Amino acid sequence: MELLDAIHTRRSIRKYLSKTVPEEMIEIILKAGMAAPSAGNQQPWHFIVITDRASLDAIPGFHPYSKMVLQAPAAILVCGDPNGKKWPTFWDQDVSAATQNILLAARDLGLGTVWVGIYPEKDRMDGFRKLFALPDHIIPFALIPVGWPDGGFDAVNRFRPELIHQERWQSK
Ligand SMILES: Cc1cc2nc3c(=O)[nH]c(=O)nc-3n(C[C@H](O)[C@H](O)[C@H](O)COP(=O)(O)O)c2cc1C
Repeated sequence: MELLDAIHTRRSIRKYLSKTVPEEMIEIILKAGMAAPSAGNQQPWHFIVITDRASLDAIPGFHPYSKMVLQAPAAILVCGDPNGKKWPTFWDQDVSAATQNILLAARDLGLGTVWVGIYPEKDRMDGFRKLFALPDHIIPFALIPVGWPDGGFDAVNRFRPELIHQERWQSK
């Protein structure tokens, strides 16, 4: 699949078939995540691959917008690890880039995903910290449920020329 097609047809997929995702595919998309740019190439991320049904089913108990995970055969918990890094304040931008790479790589493989935000909402972070036994310095950033989509990938056009400014800020 061409990259631009993947970008324009990546959708948040919240309904999945009851079919497992091969481990090799999870590794491919994680490899894409780790290929992301990061400040000073510091790569301040960790990823927890979750397939345990009881763990997945516990997540909506503390995250109000994560009910799709009840159907998902797997999810990736993307975490930040700014501790001791040269550019610690950039960690969330670094980890966002990795998250987007994962979504796009999954789209390329025909897998459905959705970026479920965690950081900086304290209640959600606390819930993930507890359920997945995260060390104190590891920051739960986003959950990415992964599954085979029950439905299609629609292209959308969100292009808004009025948001583009040539050379300097110009109100339109
Ligand atoms: C930072 C962030 C947090 C998000 N959190 C959630 C969430 O908690 N639950 C959810 O269902 N979707 C979540 N989304 C997905 C957005 O709702 C979705 O990207 C947006 O509606 C656009 O739709 P699209 O992804 O299909 O283009 C989040 C997306 C981002 C970037």
